[in-house]
Amino acid sequence: MSLLFSPAAIGKLALANRIVIAPMCEYSAEEGCATDWHMIHLGHLALSGAGLLFTEATAVEPEGRISPGDLGLWSDETEAALGRVVRAVRRYSPVRLGIQLAHAGRKASSNAPWNGGQLVPPSEGGWQGWAPSAVPHGEGEPAPRALDAAGLERVRRAFVDSARRALRLGFDAIELHAAHGYLLHQFLSPLANRRDDAYGGSLENRMRLPLEVFEALRAAVPDTVALGVRVSATDWVEGGWDLPQTLAFARELHARGCDFMDVSSGGVSPRQKIPVGPNYQVPFAEAIKRETGMPTIAVGLITEAQQAEDILQKGQADMVALARGMLYDPRWPWHAAAQLGGQVAAPRQYWRSQPRELKNLFGETRFGQR
Ligand SMILES: Cc1cc2nc3c(=O)[nH]c(=O)nc-3n(C[C@H](O)[C@H](O)[C@H](O)COP(=O)(O)O)c2cc1C
Repeated sequence: MSLLFSPAAIGKLALANRIVIAPMCEYSAEEGCATDWHMIHLGHLALSGAGLLFTEATAVEPEGRISPGDLGLWSDETEAALGRVVRAVRRYSPVRLGIQLAHAGRKASSNAPWNGGQLVPPSEGGWQGWAPSAVPHGEGEPAPRALDAAGLERVRRAFVDSARRALRLGFDAIELHAAHGYLLHQFLSPLANRRDDAYGGSLENRMRLPLEVFEALRAAVPDTVALGVRVSATDWVEGGWDLPQTLAFARELHARGCDFMDVSSGGVSPRQKIPVGPNYQVPFAEAIKRETGMPTIAVGLITEAQQAEDILQKGQADMVALARGMLYDPRWPWHAAAQLGGQVAAPRQYWRSQPRELKNLFGETRFGQR
């Protein structure tokens, strides 16, 4: 019996299987609004058979976008544009939908990767980022503005406002982006956070803003919607954020009603040295799961069905997320189900594609009842 294709729960949210499509920036929004690209992109991934599909990092305020093409959820216009995509997905797919809420902090105002990805200073049409401290991400980059008390309040409120909009749109899960060197990770990491007030210095102080934001979200989000956090478990830099601090953060989140952790790494410093390879981040998910008992999502170079199954069978994580592998093979869950003897929900328009020798591939779940 395949664990990958057995049902899972995060909080009160039931999932048909343990395959998660990781958040992936598309740099294709206009003024924060989802476009036809998002309809095509999220639409096709919604037909993949995965249990949970995350939107890309979705900015809670315009200045919190990584690039001008980032998706946002800060206004009625951005809400309406994303709502159009959500409704289309709902109409044709039983996939559970998650949204990743994000603020880029000092990594805001960058070019799309296909245009080089570098920071665009205000003098060239960009904008100045916000951060815990006026310390740039990369040497020679313009310094961000340090958030003052009013700025911290604005950020907390922006996350809650976006979460309320996400609830109105009917998302099943909300993931707070505290990874990859963006604003909340910048507060956690001593490499980016040089504050000498209550939000910097000790571990307790560096965790303060991310925990305040989480608490505010938990108060606003009913327990029927899964609320979790994506972390970078280590900065991969000596003297930076690391696994023991991540475990302390996870314990605090668990105590505040966090439903799941999505465990990634890196992104806060150009000095990082990442030993990239299959499963390279899995031990971090395993450690968080062991320490807190919270459902964890493992991610990072998980590309094979048996590899994903083994991670679950060994109890290293509760779910696996794929990003690049899912773009390369958008029917990855179908093919994994064929290999492991699982079943997937498939749209009835595609039922005739079921290979004769796999007549149970589109099984009980094929009708896609929610
Ligand atoms: C095109 C692309 C866009 C991404 N955008 C995001 C994002 O918006 N938020 C995020 O947390 N991670 C993002 N990531 C990282 C992925 O979610 C994932 O953690 C990473 O790619 C490792 O998984 P993989 O080896 O299966 O690709 C992105 C990755 C890719 C390839």
